[in-house]
Amino acid sequence: MKPGYNKILLMKLTTKLIVLLFSVILSLFFLSYFSNSIAKRDANTSEPLILAMHEPNQITKCTLNQWFNPAINDEEGVRLLKNCSHCHMAGYKEWINDKHSMSQSNPFFLSIYSGTDKEGNENIAPGFRLDHPKQNGNCILCHNPEAALDNNFDIDLRNAENTNGISCNFCHKIESIDKNHLKQGVRGLTISRVCKGQKEIGFGPLNDLVESTDIVEFKYNPIYKESLYCAKCHDGFQGNTQIYSTFTEWLNSPAKKQGIQCQSCHMPVREHTAKKIHIVDNPDVKSKLRPYYQLHSHSFLTNNPHKFRKTFLDLKIKVKVKNNILKVTAKVINKNTGHSFPTGSPMRNALLVLEVKDENNNKLELIKGPQLPVYAGSLKGKPGRLFAKILSETSNQYAQTHGEDGIRFRKTAGTLGIPAQQWWNIFILSDTRIKALKNDISIYEFFIEPHRKISVTAKLIWRNTWPGLAKVKEFIIKEETLIEKTLLL
Ligand code: HEC
Ligand code: HEC
Ligand code: HEC
Ligand code: HEC
Ligand code: HEC
Repeated sequence: MKPGYNKILLMKLTTKLIVLLFSVILSLFFLSYFSNSIAKRDANTSEPLILAMHEPNQITKCTLNQWFNPAINDEEGVRLLKNCSHCHMAGYKEWINDKHSMSQSNPFFLSIYSGTDKEGNENIAPGFRLDHPKQNGNCILCHNPEAALDNNFDIDLRNAENTNGISCNFCHKIESIDKNHLKQGVRGLTISRVCKGQKEIGFGPLNDLVESTDIVEFKYNPIYKESLYCAKCHDGFQGNTQIYSTFTEWLNSPAKKQGIQCQSCHMPVREHTAKKIHIVDNPDVKSKLRPYYQLHSHSFLTNNPHKFRKTFLDLKIKVKVKNNILKVTAKVINKNTGHSFPTGSPMRNALLVLEVKDENNNKLELIKGPQLPVYAGSLKGKPGRLFAKILSETSNQYAQTHGEDGIRFRKTAGTLGIPAQQWWNIFILSDTRIKALKNDISIYEFFIEPHRKISVTAKLIWRNTWPGLAKVKEFIIKEETLIEKTLLL
C-alpha cells in the first residue's frame, strides 16, 4: 500500500461529505422556497394551481405545459419545435379548413350559445345564456375542450380564452376513453398533460416511430384506429334524451359488424401518387419512408364535402298513370353502413321535394301523400318528406324559470319552424332520419288531365340548420342539393 493513501481516502471522504451536506442544505432551501411559493399561490386565487397527471397514477401539483398552437407562425412553437405544422404541414392544411379547428370560434355555434345574432346583437333567442343567465352549461366539454380542462370544466364560453379549437395537440393527447355515457366530451377522456418543462407525451396509430424529439414523445395507442376514440364528443345527452347519437348509431350499424370504423370513412388514406411516403413533410427532419396507407386525411369530410356527402345516397322515382291519377313512388336510400342520414347535430336535416308540372309549367295539385312540415321553411306544404330528429319540450313549467326572452321565444318558435332547443327539458318527438342501409319510401298522387305532357322532378336536399333559425340569427343557411332526378311522361 502506498504511503499517504489513507490520507487521500480521508480527503475524498471529506469532500464527499461536504458535497452531501451542501446538497442537503440546497434541497432544504429549494423545498422551503417551493412550499412558500405554493402557499403564496394558494392564497392568490388569480393563479390557481392545477392538478396534473404527469406519471401514471401520480398526481402532482404543477403549472401545466401550455397547449400549443399548431400554426407555423406561432413564435414560441417555432422556438420550441412544438408547432405541428413545422413538420406536418399537409395535415395542418387539412385541419385548418376542417370544423374541428374552428369549434371554439364557430360564429353560428357562439350565437346559439350566447343568444346573439350574426352581427352580435344581444337578446336574440334562442340562446343557452338567455335561458340560463347564471350557468355556463356543458357545451364547452365538446366545443372547446382545451378551455374546459384549463378551467375545471366550468367557464362561460363567451369569456373562454382563444384556444385552438379541437387541436392537433388536444386530439393527440387522448390516452383513453371512459365508456360511462354520463361522462361527456373531455370529461370522459384521459388527457396526458405534463408539468411545465417535462417532456410532453402524445399518442398516435403507429408503433414503429423513428426516435422522437426531446420535447415530445409519441407513443403507440391502438384506440386511434377505433370508433370509440370519437365517441365522447359524437354522442351526447341532455338528461335521458340523446341529442347527439352518431356513435350509438354506429354501434347498431352494419359497419360495426364489418369492422368499419369512423376513421375508415372520415380519415381515409391521404391521396398520393407515390407508394412510399414520409409522414413528416419537413426535409430537414429525420423520418421513415413508409407505405402510403399509413398517412391519413385530417379533412373529416374529405377535401370535397359535397361529393362526400352524397357518396352513400341514392334516390329513385317511379310513376304510374291510372285513370286521371298520377302515382309517384319515391325511394331515398342510405347506403352508408356507418350511421343515419343525416347525423350529427339535431339541427341537421334533409328533405325530399317533389315537383310535378305540366307542359305549361303549371304545378299539379297533390291529392294524396305526405307534405313538408313547417320546419322546411319556404318549402312547407310541398309534396315531400323531412328527414330529421325533432326535439320537443316536455312541459312549459320548466320554461317559466327561464329568462324573459327565452320564454317569449318558446311561444313563437313552433310557428317560426324551429323545434325545441337541445338544452331545454326535451324529449324526441320524432326521428325520421334514415338508418344505416335502410331506405324511405313515400307515395304521392296527383290529378292529371288527359293528353298532357308531365315532368316529375325529385330533389334530395341537405341543410345544416332550420331555415327559421338561420333567419332569426341572420345567418345564411347552408343548403346542398345532393341528388336531382327528372322523369318526363
Ligand atoms: C379530432 C382529432 C384529431 C385532430 C384534431 C388531429 N388528429 Fe391526427 N390523428 C387522429 C387520429 C384518430 C389518427 C389515426 C388515423 C388512422 O390511423 O386511421 C391521427 C393520425 C395522425 C398522424 C399519424 C399518421 C397518419 O396520418 O395516420 C399524424 C402525424 C397526425 N395525426 C398529426 C396531426 C396533426 C399535425 C394535426 C393538426 C394539424 C392533427 N393530427 C389533428 C386524430 C386527430
Ligand atoms: C420537429 C418536427 C416535428 C414536430 C414539430 C412535430 N412532429 Fe410529429 N412527428 C415527427 C417525427 C420525426 C415523427 C416520426 C416519423 C416517422 O417515424 O416516420 C412524428 C410522428 C408523429 C405522430 C405519429 C405518432 C404515432 O405513434 O403514431 C403523430 C400523431 C404526430 N407526430 C403528431 C404531432 C403533433 C400533434 C405535433 C404538434 C403538437 C407534432 N407531431 C409536431 C416530427 C415532428
Ligand atoms: C373533443 C371532442 C371531439 C372529438 C374527440 C372528435 N370530434 Fe368530431 N367534432 C367535434 C365538434 C365539437 C364538432 C363541431 C365543430 C363545429 O361545427 O363547430 C365536430 C365535427 C365533426 C364532423 C363534421 C364536420 C367537419 O368538418 O369536421 C365530423 C365528420 C367529425 N367531427 C368526425 C369525427 C371523427 C370521425 C372523430 C374521431 C376520429 C371525431 N370527430 C372526434 C368534437 C369532437
Ligand atoms: C361508411 C362510411 C362512414 C362511417 C363508418 C361513418 N361515417 Fe360519418 N358520415 C359519412 C358520410 C358519407 C357523411 C355525410 C352524409 C351525412 O351527413 O350523413 C357522414 C356524416 C357525418 C357527420 C355529419 C357531418 C355534418 O356535416 O353534419 C358526422 C358528425 C359524422 N359523420 C361522424 C361520424 C362518426 C363519429 C362515426 C363513427 C362513430 C362515423 N361518422 C362513421 C360516412 C361515414
Ligand atoms: C357531447 C358533446 C357535445 C356537447 C355537450 C355539445 N355539443 Fe354541440 N356539437 C357537438 C358536435 C360533435 C357537433 C357537430 C355535429 C355535426 O357536424 O353535425 C355539434 C354541433 C353543434 C352546433 C352546430 C354548429 C354548426 O356550425 O352548424 C351547435 C349550434 C351546437 N352544437 C350547440 C351546442 C350547445 C348550445 C351546446 C350546449 C348547450 C352544445 N352544443 C353541447 C357536440 C356537442
